[in-house]
Amino acid sequence: MADYKKEGKPVERKGRVTVVLALTTFIATFGSSFQYGYNVAVINSPSQFMQQFYNATYMERYNRPMEEGFLTLLWSLSVAMFPLGGFFGSLMVAPLVNRLGRKGTLLFNNIFSIVPAVMMGVSEIAKSYEIIIVARFIVGICAGIVVVVPMYLCELAPKNLRGAICVAAELLITIGILSAQVLGIRHILGNSTGWTILLGLTGIPALLELLLLPFFPESPRYLLMQKGDEKSARKVLQRLRGWDDVDEELSEMRLEEQSEKAEGRLSVFSLLSQRSLRWQLISIIVINTGQQLSGINAIFYYADSIYAKAGVRENDIQYVTVGTGAVNVCMVIASACIVESLGRRLLLVSGFGINCIACVLFTVALNFQETVSWMPYVSIACIIGYVMGHAIGPGPLPFLVTTEMFRQTARPAAFMIAGSVHWLSNFIIGLLFPYLEKGLGSYSFLVFAVICVITMVYIWLVVPETKNKTFLEICQIFAKRNKVEIKLDAGDLPMKESKESLGDVVKVTAF
Ligand SMILES: *[C@@H]1O[C@H](CO)[C@@H](O)[C@H](O)[C@H]1NC(C)=O
Repeated sequence: MADYKKEGKPVERKGRVTVVLALTTFIATFGSSFQYGYNVAVINSPSQFMQQFYNATYMERYNRPMEEGFLTLLWSLSVAMFPLGGFFGSLMVAPLVNRLGRKGTLLFNNIFSIVPAVMMGVSEIAKSYEIIIVARFIVGICAGIVVVVPMYLCELAPKNLRGAICVAAELLITIGILSAQVLGIRHILGNSTGWTILLGLTGIPALLELLLLPFFPESPRYLLMQKGDEKSARKVLQRLRGWDDVDEELSEMRLEEQSEKAEGRLSVFSLLSQRSLRWQLISIIVINTGQQLSGINAIFYYADSIYAKAGVRENDIQYVTVGTGAVNVCMVIASACIVESLGRRLLLVSGFGINCIACVLFTVALNFQETVSWMPYVSIACIIGYVMGHAIGPGPLPFLVTTEMFRQTARPAAFMIAGSVHWLSNFIIGLLFPYLEKGLGSYSFLVFAVICVITMVYIWLVVPETKNKTFLEICQIFAKRNKVEIKLDAGDLPMKESKESLGDVVKVTAF
């Protein structure tokens, strides 16, 4: 956290990183974002032991070994219940943040982590694989709600630190993935006795958050706007900023509130029917679908089995997997550093391009694996190259692009759609990848290559650079495609639109 201090020198009262802000950031990201990443990767390493457990449990119950097809089905479900839960979790975000507040939602969300952590921890003693599958669903709900973290932190942070603090949330997700991979090493917890602990550990960050976060402030914007509690909002701001004079910021918030109220909010349905936003909407759907269907989570969910098929030696797989996670962390940091200079478009296009090339090369490597002895190394390089390509653009940027393409009024609805699309495609990949692998064998990654190319071409042709552009400018770029006219002096174009839909100022909940 110390790095941010450099940016926050008290020139013209730029916000600085106070102890309260730093600790809140740490607790919320560790308690929630970290956990999300952890649960993405956690069942990869112990998968073979867990499958043995499924088989043995079945044997004990029915006195015959489990059929292979049934085991594949149960395993796919164990993986895919997580993103399915994420889908339902993401639908719960809007009602929760408005009713319980941002901090309140994060605290409440710990139930969805501690309960399944206990369930997974006792699954072996209870001799039930059903418990694991249900627990994966619940912990998925927890992950779906984790988008509240950047919302909460961005509302706490002073303007000049917002970017950096949102990156912290992103970063902790990748660190969570890496931690699960490290703890999943055979000598540590990735073995026949340790896997229940490995799965159950996700409850620890949740417990810490539950115990510590209550001492930290609720979002001042929430207090002021939703609760109308100016006194608390002021107190919280003073605590967060480390100075007493917060009137200016409070009145800024009030202004924003008024303009938000005047503009109303688009419901999902009115966003879908809005001509002037049509191609923006299609774009975020394509980008978010492409992000998931490009296969990144196939790699995080099934890394070990992919490496095993690529001929990597059994004992080396775990270290290669950890290496993949480490590369992922580094690339997300790199992406955060270059995204403002290179722009979103270039990083997205090249990221999907790299992914496509990596998939094709990986397919070639798989096919020559029997004849050329060093092919497993090529395979490792391809997967690592793939993860790098993903982490530089397609991973972190869709969220940013979604924010930038829509103005405040339409943003909640846009996020709702982007989130649903994200989790549903994630679910499809988690569920179908084992079947894809069985059906197409070494050619399964070609499917991902095709999806990457399609997404890349789409972005190349349709998506404009959104860096440093206002909403109106972006709207103008899209105007021709949307076949709507935009009058240059009509700075309030989106307002006119939203007035029509003021009747249905149902918040994001209207899905
Ligand atoms: C389940 O275990 C038995 C031996 O205990 C084994 O013969 C069988 O192949 C296993 N089934 C699967 C699907 O792995």
